[in-house]
Amino acid sequence: MHPATILVADDDAVARALLAEALKKEGYAVEAFASGEETIARGCQGHVDVVLTDIRMGAVDGLTVLRKFKQMSPNTVVVVLTAFGSLEGAVEAIKQGAYDYLAKPFRKDEIKLVVKRSLDHCRLLRENAQFRHALQRTSDCSPLVGSSPAMLEVYKLVARVAESKSTVLLQGESGTGKELIARAIHANGLRRAKPFVPVNCGALPDSLLESEMFGYEKGAFTGAVRTKAGLFEAANGGSLFLDEIGELGAAVQVKLLRVMQDQEVRRVGGTGSIKVDVRIIAATNRDLKRLVTEGKFRNDLFYRLQVVPITLPSLVERREDIPMLVHHFLQKCARGEGPTVRGVLPETMGVLTRYRWPGNVRELENAIEQAVSLSPGPLLTPDDLPEAIRHAAVEDREGIRRSDPASDATLTLEEVEKRHLVLVLKETKGNKVKAAKILGIDRRTLYRMAERLGLNLEDAIEGVKND
Ligand SMILES: Nc1ncnc2c1ncn2[C@@H]1O[C@H](COP(=O)(O)OP(=O)(O)OP(=O)(O)O)[C@@H](O)[C@H]1O
Ligand SMILES: [Mg+2]
Repeated sequence: MHPATILVADDDAVARALLAEALKKEGYAVEAFASGEETIARGCQGHVDVVLTDIRMGAVDGLTVLRKFKQMSPNTVVVVLTAFGSLEGAVEAIKQGAYDYLAKPFRKDEIKLVVKRSLDHCRLLRENAQFRHALQRTSDCSPLVGSSPAMLEVYKLVARVAESKSTVLLQGESGTGKELIARAIHANGLRRAKPFVPVNCGALPDSLLESEMFGYEKGAFTGAVRTKAGLFEAANGGSLFLDEIGELGAAVQVKLLRVMQDQEVRRVGGTGSIKVDVRIIAATNRDLKRLVTEGKFRNDLFYRLQVVPITLPSLVERREDIPMLVHHFLQKCARGEGPTVRGVLPETMGVLTRYRWPGNVRELENAIEQAVSLSPGPLLTPDDLPEAIRHAAVEDREGIRRSDPASDATLTLEEVEKRHLVLVLKETKGNKVKAAKILGIDRRTLYRMAERLGLNLEDAIEGVKND
């Protein structure tokens, strides 16, 4: 058997060489190219199994390479590499037919695994010519911020599941963005022109919830003065978002299960059934599996709901996204009235990235909003932050001595972050492990952060050592 042919396209010579080297060691026939043009030209010449392409390259970028290969060689599997992960990026790449989407820097074993999976997929493609990737569309709802590996996994799931009708169960702590993701799933699917109807299952007593969800006939109960369609009917053709599904009472659980099985609803007090075509997206911040073992949630309903389970990471599991979220919320605040706060001081960012965030993104959003309304200047100081956050952070800041703050009011958030990173490296005498620890991120994320900020980590470390 011939070794599989793999093309590597990256305009960065170092990344290109590393990738090619690692894959050659695995016994693949690897050919590396520095531009999209050359890669496409090679594709015209003959069989290629897998293409690994960087997104950002000169005139012909990775998405163009992807499109060309999908046209001329639909069975070639394309994996898109990016220095900067986002929902839009993942959706765009997967929409165009990419098999996978990886954010840099990645580990060698990670890339080997992806290539292996791609080759398996290649085989499958050849066997099954009709196989087609579901097309995804970019959403127009509020943006999802974050490019941590944990969020990237979520984006990929969203992109893959959006166009199907599969029931999705979103789990995650309070404030992790479950509703935002539910809306993104709807907005990226075929049903986006149809209604997205949210129902808070915890907000109403059982009997009321039942008549809300399934509707009622005139005279069904005292006060039912006229017939009313339920939310299932309102969501027909679209999606029904069952929020706080863990709060659902036993009676409504039974009814919901029946509607999901039969795809038809019966109004309270009604005799006939009404066909409905509704996609269910459910969410909960409780451990639903545990509620099942405790006998508080029906097992059969649980299995029907968690066809595609998506678990959202808590904010501390993706601390590296905090600076980006802070920036996002500052911009959001800036659209209101009042003076504009343009950034945060390095020590403020330090406090924000070290804090535990039990309320996750919602708590961060509220903290920024509150700080902005209190801040007298264009840069947030730690004193502008809510007291609880300030205090909690003070307790575990021993490692860091106060250094002269970058008080230059014209700094952008990125410059502030960059300065802060250098400051921390200085504090740790260039020790990356310690620096990452203080920043509350892992070492890989430290590299990623430096790359995003355009900072050469090794040079910076040399610099602080010579200081
Ligand atoms: N990735 C994100 N990017 C930008 N904003 C986010 C993100 N995640 C959450 N938010 C914001 O945080 C707030 C809380 O999000 P959301 O309501 O979706 O959380 P939730 O998981 O449904 O919380 P709960 O369990 O308390 O209902 C919202 O204002 C939302 O816009
Ligand atoms: Mg919610």
